[in-house]
Amino acid sequence: MKNIAIVTGASSGLGKEFVKSLINDKKFDEIFVLARSEDKLNELKNEYGNKIRPYPTDLSDINNIKTFGKYLGKEDINIKLLVNNAGFAKFCSYEDLSIDESLNMINLNISAVVAMGLVCIPFMSKNSHIINIASQAAFQPVPYQNIYSATKSFVKNYSRALNIELKEKGIVVTAVCPGWIKTNLYDRGCINAKKATTNFVHMVTPDVVVKKALKDAYDNKDISVYGLYVNACGILSKLLPEKLIMKIWLSQQKINPEKK
Ligand SMILES: NC(=O)c1ccc[n+]([C@@H]2O[C@H](COP(=O)([O-])OP(=O)(O)OC[C@H]3O[C@@H](n4cnc5c(N)ncnc54)[C@H](OP(=O)(O)O)[C@@H]3O)[C@@H](O)[C@H]2O)c1
Repeated sequence: MKNIAIVTGASSGLGKEFVKSLINDKKFDEIFVLARSEDKLNELKNEYGNKIRPYPTDLSDINNIKTFGKYLGKEDINIKLLVNNAGFAKFCSYEDLSIDESLNMINLNISAVVAMGLVCIPFMSKNSHIINIASQAAFQPVPYQNIYSATKSFVKNYSRALNIELKEKGIVVTAVCPGWIKTNLYDRGCINAKKATTNFVHMVTPDVVVKKALKDAYDNKDISVYGLYVNACGILSKLLPEKLIMKIWLSQQKINPEKK
């Protein structure tokens, strides 16, 4: 039986960094890497060798995840780690997005996280881990990224509750809540909207977030927050009224919602 890790959204950014950190870990015989870009997944295999198993797929389509579940069923595997990382943001007003774009974000950021967990848990055993990538945006409602922040709140709350339910199986779920990270997220997220996030404060590199996420997961923590600034924001979001937090956010981003 092979011990495997699965990383979604492995073709760039945080996901690629997870692969880099896991590749020399002897716990894993293989790392299954998922994303839409087949060429980039094959590049990972070229770089790291046969330990990488590319599985190109669009995770926003639930049928593809069910198919992946059947694919897993044909393997003799023990899933030691699932990193649910694929996700995207849109920094704009609700009216800048079509219904399809809005719902696609929910499909990838929420439905895929749930479905991937459900298809993988039957192949997990005691001391297996699920890492779900949420965001600092999970701590509060965020105007002009309303869907993104709400999807990440879901991921945080869902993961922490699931972690309790999976205790009887010895499986640990960790919600990772990073602040801004230097990745390709902004290529898809920034669409030159009139009202949008433009002030990306305290941006960090993916390696530090991944290092902390893996440490916290293996320490059996249900939440991982990297950096003083993000931790302080997390605490403030518990102490201050949400209305005030949203006001501070809008002023940080220099957005006046009442101005046309
Ligand atoms: N960057 C930040 O500031 C930040 C902060 C907090 C949380 N996060 C979270 O971190 C996670 C990783 O994002 P990132 O910052 O590393 O951005 P990124 O560089 O854009 O990476 C996103 C990954 O998701 C994959 N992906 C996108 N749509 C997909 C789909 N429909 N099906 C399968 N895979 C898909 C992309 O691959 P393909 O395009 O090849 O499909 C890519 O590998 C996301 O969940 C994001 O919300 C990021």
